[in-house]
Amino acid sequence: MTGDIFGNLETLPPDSILGVTAAFRRDPDPRKIDLGVGVYRDEFGNTPVPAAVREAEQAVLAEQVTKVYVGPAGNVEFNERVVALALGPLATRLRDRMAAIQTVGGCGALRMGAEMLHAAAPDSVVHVSDPTWANHEPLLGNSGITLQRYPYYEAATRVVAFDRMLAYLEHLPPGAVVLLHGCCHNPTGVDLSLEQWAAVADVLELRGLVPFVDLAYQGLGDDLETDAEGLRLLAARLPTLLLAISCSKNFGVYRERAGALAVFAQNAATARAIATHQARIGRRMYSMPPDHGAAIVSRVLGDPRLRQVWQDEVATMVARMKELRTLLAGRLTARRPDLDFSWLTRQRGMFSLLGLAPAAITALCNEEHVYMPPDGRINLAGVSDANVDRVADAIVNVLGRR
Ligand code: LMR
Repeated sequence: MTGDIFGNLETLPPDSILGVTAAFRRDPDPRKIDLGVGVYRDEFGNTPVPAAVREAEQAVLAEQVTKVYVGPAGNVEFNERVVALALGPLATRLRDRMAAIQTVGGCGALRMGAEMLHAAAPDSVVHVSDPTWANHEPLLGNSGITLQRYPYYEAATRVVAFDRMLAYLEHLPPGAVVLLHGCCHNPTGVDLSLEQWAAVADVLELRGLVPFVDLAYQGLGDDLETDAEGLRLLAARLPTLLLAISCSKNFGVYRERAGALAVFAQNAATARAIATHQARIGRRMYSMPPDHGAAIVSRVLGDPRLRQVWQDEVATMVARMKELRTLLAGRLTARRPDLDFSWLTRQRGMFSLLGLAPAAITALCNEEHVYMPPDGRINLAGVSDANVDRVADAIVNVLGRR
């Protein structure tokens, strides 16, 4: 029909990760288990609001006297505090050559970074790990920059394909951008060791490459400091660095969309110019970021008592995730002592790849009612004492499927 402006649009397939949640909700089977989207869950399967966040939120609401705009860069105090959390004492040293902007979650930070690269150098190529988080390529690529993949994961041995990764980086032209997961690699759970970070820093420095670090899980790998060591090593050495920070997981403020992009430039004048571009990009896309989540996070980080409460809560989350890794590996080994599942305990963060054939993953979802994205990534936080035997049975049942 004429005038039907949207009539030519076809219905799109579901998002590979968010579609899992929808499929899980649709399934009426009471035995269903959700190992899909990366949210933390406690032993009851809930994703609670951390106590420190709850308390900070009440204080923010009690003290708020206006809802007037905060400003294009968002909550500046929040920006500084989350960057200081990420970089430690280094943040003070780099402050003069930093341009930070509050963003709509970590996704907003990644997209803002890509838009900045596009504004500065439209021919930029960003190299992402193979595999990488399912939304990295669409999210970054939609800005107009080009994406390519570097080898990262050795599927057979479930470790970083480090020699191949390094060899790839060694052949990149100066100015190429390399996206690195700060910790808790999504989807593999396999992180660089500190020695490997140092070797990557050498190559980046030598070849004039630009690191773009996605820090979405700080504190959920080992602890808040250890998880940032690789990033800090790069930030101390590289003249230019982009850092995308998400507070969704470690502060449990998923729906509040609290994140920040910090760009470290070669000098203060360039940083000032970058800040104006960040503000303009934000203005043209959504004008200004939301305040609530950032105000809460800033309050937690700025209050020593609340900060301690929060750090203890993060420590509880990470301890639980490590326990679940051991628990699931143990139950799988009990069922198949001929197979090695110890990789589960060596990996970090919420995710691991089961490494099963597509038919096995389909069977897990459709026949076993255990839900995960099509790449076979499981969110360990979806496992619990109550369901671990069902999960282990389900995985073992589909092992041979091709
Ligand atoms: C995930 O990887 O599951 C999370 O980062 C949530 C998302 O937006 O995909």
